[in-house]
Amino acid sequence: MEIVISGASGKTGYRAAEEALKKGHKVHLLLRKTSKIPPSLTKCEKTYLSLGETNKLDGAIKGKDALIIATGARPSVDLTGPAKIDAFGVKSQVESCKRVGLKRVILVSSLCAGKWFHPLNLFGLILVWKRIGEQFLEKSSLDWTIIRPGGLTEQEDDLQNEGIIYSSENTQTEGSIPRRLVAKSCIEALNTANSIQKIVEITSSKGVKNKSMQNQINDFVLKRS
Ligand SMILES: NC(=O)c1ccc[n+]([C@@H]2O[C@H](COP(=O)([O-])OP(=O)(O)OC[C@H]3O[C@@H](n4cnc5c(N)ncnc54)[C@H](OP(=O)(O)O)[C@@H]3O)[C@@H](O)[C@H]2O)c1
Repeated sequence: MEIVISGASGKTGYRAAEEALKKGHKVHLLLRKTSKIPPSLTKCEKTYLSLGETNKLDGAIKGKDALIIATGARPSVDLTGPAKIDAFGVKSQVESCKRVGLKRVILVSSLCAGKWFHPLNLFGLILVWKRIGEQFLEKSSLDWTIIRPGGLTEQEDDLQNEGIIYSSENTQTEGSIPRRLVAKSCIEALNTANSIQKIVEITSSKGVKNKSMQNQINDFVLKRS
């Protein structure tokens, strides 16, 4: 597959790109002029742009098989960041996919997206804007998967003993997960047909048995019906 990854300079985005490369995919990075990427990604194709530059965005996405959106407002004194990036930045990317006919989109969102009363909202109502971003994608005709991770960690060791807990929307409110596992889940979602049109919440824990995303989605769909 040819996969475009936005927010590819971010701590989840660069890992998603690395995981995609490991699986043999071709990867195209969407970056800002000031973005920095690790040496592992220097050979990837890149487009430097602002998310509002629709022609450039369309040009970078056109003809590709999938987009992974790993953009997110970085903590800052500018409290408008979450609205600009987590809602309207996602909207720009969704609209670009619709214009150029790219169907498959994975969005990295967050547990508790849509909650009004949450300490994280001290940063520009970020969880409220994240839900609005999700809704732009949900209402599109695209083949979308929204991945809502818990608190992200930099853990890279001992991941083989860290099992991912998948559940449906609004079922987990706490817990954490290494960014590397979120990145792997984004790539796994691309080959998991039953993740299409689903919000999938993920955290991880030591000692939890590792099961495929497909099986865990089947389990929670069965439980709900
Ligand atoms: N931190 C947590 O515990 C947590 C928990 C759940 C979900 N999440 C969400 O998970 C996602 C990934 O988080 P992360 O901590 O791995 O990300 P991160 O390291 O903060 O990276 C954010 C990415 O978004 C890009 N970005 C920021 N503002 C932008 C703009 N105006 N235009 C274009 N790109 C922009 C950054 O580009 P530059 O490198 O150029 O700045 C970077 O590539 C985010 O959506 C985050 O909100 C985070």
